Amino acid sequence: MKDEGSAKSEPVARAPARRRWEEEILFPLFEKKTGMQFGPTYVMRNEHKEIAAHLESIHKKVQKADPSSDREEQKLLEVLGAHNQKEEAILYPQPAVRL
Ligand SMILES: [Fe+2]
Repeated sequence: MKDEGSAKSEPVARAPARRRWEEEILFPLFEKKTGMQFGPTYVMRNEHKEIAAHLESIHKKVQKADPSSDREEQKLLEVLGAHNQKEEAILYPQPAVRL
């Protein structure tokens, strides 16, 4: 049972730090080098907001000791999985973000 919980919460626990690094360092670098303000980083920022909203929904239920967060958790994992895949397959390989 502990492994299942760890497997679910691990990506969620890392999400805020990764989001901050992307929004404060990576995305501005990409935008500066490419001049694209409304390209992939715009989409990624909007998805970050969606991810944060799902996290907040789950957090509110946890605060109320409401265990009915399966739907929110599933939505979060779907958005987060697709988001991370897009960043790693499309954004990160861009020459503009390579150091
Ligand atoms: Fe991201």
